[in-house]
Amino acid sequence: MLTATIDQAQKIIAKEDKYGAHNYHPLPVVLEKGEGVYVWDVAGKQYFDYLSAYSSVNQGHCHPRILKAMLTQAQKLTLTSRAFHNNMLGAFEEQLHQIFGYDKALPMNSGVEAVETAMKLCRKWAYEVKGVPANAAKILFAKNNFHGRTLSVISASNDPSSRMGFGPYMNGIGSVPYNDLAALEAQLASDPNIAAFIVEPIQGEAGVVVPDADYLPTVADLCKKHNVLFVADEIQTGLGRTGHLLATYMDGGNTKLRPDIIILGKALSGGFLPVSAVLADDEIMMTIKPGEHGSTYGGNPLACAVAMEALKVLIEEELPQNALKMGQLFRSGLEALAKQFPIIKKVRGRGLLNAIVIDSDEHSKLAWNICLKMRDNGLLAKPTHGNKIRLAPPLVINEQQIKESLEIIGKSLADFS
Ligand SMILES: Cc1ncc(COP(=O)(O)O)c(C=O)c1O
Repeated sequence: MLTATIDQAQKIIAKEDKYGAHNYHPLPVVLEKGEGVYVWDVAGKQYFDYLSAYSSVNQGHCHPRILKAMLTQAQKLTLTSRAFHNNMLGAFEEQLHQIFGYDKALPMNSGVEAVETAMKLCRKWAYEVKGVPANAAKILFAKNNFHGRTLSVISASNDPSSRMGFGPYMNGIGSVPYNDLAALEAQLASDPNIAAFIVEPIQGEAGVVVPDADYLPTVADLCKKHNVLFVADEIQTGLGRTGHLLATYMDGGNTKLRPDIIILGKALSGGFLPVSAVLADDEIMMTIKPGEHGSTYGGNPLACAVAMEALKVLIEEELPQNALKMGQLFRSGLEALAKQFPIIKKVRGRGLLNAIVIDSDEHSKLAWNICLKMRDNGLLAKPTHGNKIRLAPPLVINEQQIKESLEIIGKSLADFS
């Protein structure tokens, strides 16, 4: 039986290898079911999901309320395109306005499309409002960022595996080191054509790099001082993941920074569909006119129904609050493990977006092998940038499950110490 199912998994992987592009390097496990914090493979083995589809499944796998909203809407109307109105879009946009307080939303599908949208808005705003000369606008990004995979977005990346072999890159892009206010100030002061600074509140793909507490508030001030848009890419950090609805809600939520543009994706649909959105006030949003931007599926009624329920679930089930509490518990457990196992060089994170940095270089297989061992012991996670293991379970996780997860992580690390 066991051999038969291992064989089955291998056959599935072999099929993907043969007929699919090799643009990912998945951990060898084949999943077929998910519920809450758990996923199951084709042999019926249960795992804690500590990736949450890169922080998309914040509400837990197959949340029954979101599933119901999706099925109900799918039986009525799924897609109209924006050639016509549909009866769901306005309600979704109004909900985004009520929750986040921006005048308007522009819905897209994948995260990277929303980043592209924000970049276009920044350029349009620069020309029409700020008065930057035609074709001279520049957008600044932080070094070691990750904002997705399209050509314009990788033009802003300094990660060789994202960039190499895909040139020429887009013009009008600059970069500054992350968490370096002096470097940002120097660039902003030196170039009047800078339209925007696009930044992740915590750099997720880079290995959960948390900036100093004064970084984001000062970024906001500096951008304001230099008439530059402050754009927060909250695609991974947003929607409860870091213990607040947005990671730009600082100080335990007491100080709510208000970036000029917020980019949302991933958990906006709780893992059911690709739904993303860009939020901004009229001064920025109204620079884009009919015909200048869009997507056939953007704002489709099925996506709107799913996203509206996904947002309600986050708020009504108090998932940001749970992420804050469980995150503290989890990190203190990880700190204890770090004392026991020096192989953990560093623990970092906020809420339930965490990482352990393994004491090895970025090219070592050690973190990958630890992930294989955790998989064998019933917990799925994946290294990012070689030696960092991101640990980001669905936000519905409870205290008992955190304890069990820490036991699995400890047991797995013991084999490498
Ligand atoms: C901060 C950030 N921005 C953008 C993206 C791109 O989103 P998508 O993969 O949905 O295009 C990601 C994906 O990991 C991300 O973490």
